[in-house]
Amino acid sequence: MTNFPTVRLRRTRQNDKLRGLVRETRLHTDQLIYPLFVAEGINEPREISSMPGIMNWPLEHLGREVERIANLGIPAVLLFGIPNDKDEVGSQAYAEQGIIQQAIRRIKAEVPDMQVITDVCLCEYTSHGHCGVIHNGTVQNDASLQLLGQMALSHVEAGADIVAPSDMMDGRVGAIRSLLDEQGFNQAPIMAYSAKYASGFYGPFREAAGSTPQFGDRRSYQMDPANVREALREVELDIAEGADIVMVKPAMAYLDVIRQVRDACNLPIAAYNVSGEYSMIKAAAQNGWIDERRIVMEVLTGIRRAGADMVITYFAPEVAGWLKG
Ligand code: PBG
Repeated sequence: MTNFPTVRLRRTRQNDKLRGLVRETRLHTDQLIYPLFVAEGINEPREISSMPGIMNWPLEHLGREVERIANLGIPAVLLFGIPNDKDEVGSQAYAEQGIIQQAIRRIKAEVPDMQVITDVCLCEYTSHGHCGVIHNGTVQNDASLQLLGQMALSHVEAGADIVAPSDMMDGRVGAIRSLLDEQGFNQAPIMAYSAKYASGFYGPFREAAGSTPQFGDRRSYQMDPANVREALREVELDIAEGADIVMVKPAMAYLDVIRQVRDACNLPIAAYNVSGEYSMIKAAAQNGWIDERRIVMEVLTGIRRAGADMVITYFAPEVAGWLKG
């Protein structure tokens, strides 16, 4: 083994050009997915107080916002709907005139090549705020599958390009795949929230989506943050059920999970840089405690280095602007 002073790693760090040549990980705008919240019953965009710069959008303003995203070079949006009416079974989640179905049609009409990914989960639509149907005080797995299937189908019927089930029910990828295939949508990819952890980092999102559970928590379906082997089993199952893209969520505290999933499979991997991760950085930056741009690029590069192919992030427009400039 040759060693110092023969070997000097600083040689390739001397200037920008040299550092660029040896750079191992790159972040591109075409790897970014921007989440959008579409809300019923508002006329003007409403900022989410815990997520500075992120809005609840009324349908009427959606086209313009998506056009702005497209002009920045961002290839895809991830849509969440916030309905006026919630009920026990989340009826608005799979209604033909539901907020999300209308939003999909509008985006595909106004910016046709924007890839529309939809979150498939009942929690924004149920009165109890859980991701499936409740019976005897518990979230029923198999009864929820049927509704999630209907929801995914209604999204692709409205024109969604990709559906992303985030409910963490067992068997949902298979249920959605077989229903879509049966109904003539065998070309619609499924992006499975495979390793989705029961995380405190979703706090600001729940304010944005009004989806806090009214009783209990999500630990009987979302994963224990302590487990990684179990995440690999979730990924394996979702692949067997027909997932096209697997996701790890959240991202920052789960980089090892991303890496292990990367090493264990050959599917494209998405990582979700979630609301709490966004809000922490924003808050610290607004206080002048950190350099936002530097920190955001470092975090997203870290997520890519861990093995993610694409990153879902509320920072997407800012990053796209920086990468352009
Ligand atoms: C719906 C869903 C959640 C998020 C994405 N889809 C919330 C949850 O599971 O409680 C969180 C996204 C974020 O925090 O940015 N189930």
